[in-house]
Amino acid sequence: MKRYRRIISALLCTVIAAAAFSACGKAGEGGKQIVRIGHNQATDHPTNIALLEFEEYIESRLGDKYEIEIYPSELLGSQTDMVQLTQTGAVDFCVASNSILETFSENYTLFNLPYLFVSSEAYHNAMDDPEIVEPIFESTKKAGFEAVTWIDAGTRNFYTVSSPIESPDDLKGLKIRVQQSPTNVRMMELLGGSATPMGFGDVYTALQSKVIDGAENNEMALTSNGHGDVCKYYSYDMHQMIPDILIGNCAFLNGLPKEERQIFEEGFQLINEVERKEWVKAVEAAKDKAENEQGVVFLYPDTKPFQETCSAMHREMLDKYPELKTIYDKIQEHNQQHPSEKE
Ligand code: GCU
Repeated sequence: MKRYRRIISALLCTVIAAAAFSACGKAGEGGKQIVRIGHNQATDHPTNIALLEFEEYIESRLGDKYEIEIYPSELLGSQTDMVQLTQTGAVDFCVASNSILETFSENYTLFNLPYLFVSSEAYHNAMDDPEIVEPIFESTKKAGFEAVTWIDAGTRNFYTVSSPIESPDDLKGLKIRVQQSPTNVRMMELLGGSATPMGFGDVYTALQSKVIDGAENNEMALTSNGHGDVCKYYSYDMHQMIPDILIGNCAFLNGLPKEERQIFEEGFQLINEVERKEWVKAVEAAKDKAENEQGVVFLYPDTKPFQETCSAMHREMLDKYPELKTIYDKIQEHNQQHPSEKE
């Protein structure tokens, strides 16, 4: 089944890449311009729901000119593949985890730091602060793409097939899937587990075949991606709040006439608003399903030992990228205004 999906995905990528370079590839029915958006979540995921609203919004205003096509479930390839397709313009937009973007621009490293935000409120307020996100979102323009909005992806926590994680010591000797980013590999190194970087679409099979002992993600991965069918312990160590980022091809965005760009900007804002509302409901439903239908046990360990083990990474990042210090300090202001509820 998986092989079959891969073949379809590969074929689709080839067709789209080829089509993008031909005049007819971008023209839909009635000479409309096709706008392609790829992402890696299922159709019932908040990301897809928000993108469908975007489609409706744009087509209700600019429907004589643009046709929005959404490709969910890695149909256009992994996130890394999709970012590359967005760079070249074969795809106009895609949703990528901030983790993946770190390999395209080191500025994105900042939001991948473990325990960067002290509360969800601090995280949301920081991500809504243009002084924090704009310099980062615009930093990939030379590479051909820029970020147009962020999407909530909750808090990342460890989950395992059979060994509950109550403290960093419990990670020792375990193979844990992480996203493909140097920050995530370093985090696992400090925590004592063995980092196994791989694309999101490969995690289920890796868990099932015991190639890995666990992974780390938000609660939706348990249900929407079925990881809770295999993993029975989910530990709220709260190590990262990593946003997803909607990126767009610069040539497409810059080619939009002013009034149309304005409508697209409103659409990007709508994606952010809709997804964040849907996210709250989806996480609640995911927890309920994981606990009551999949038999997942939720654990609430003391987060301090995890945090202390990773704390060196903040200094390491600032030493390596001193230009990010101003933004890092602004994030601390949001942290002070919205402290953790636990304190
Ligand atoms: C989350 C996130 C995705 C990401 C995935 C992963 O689901 O929303 O963008 O791809 O984690 O762990 O790879």
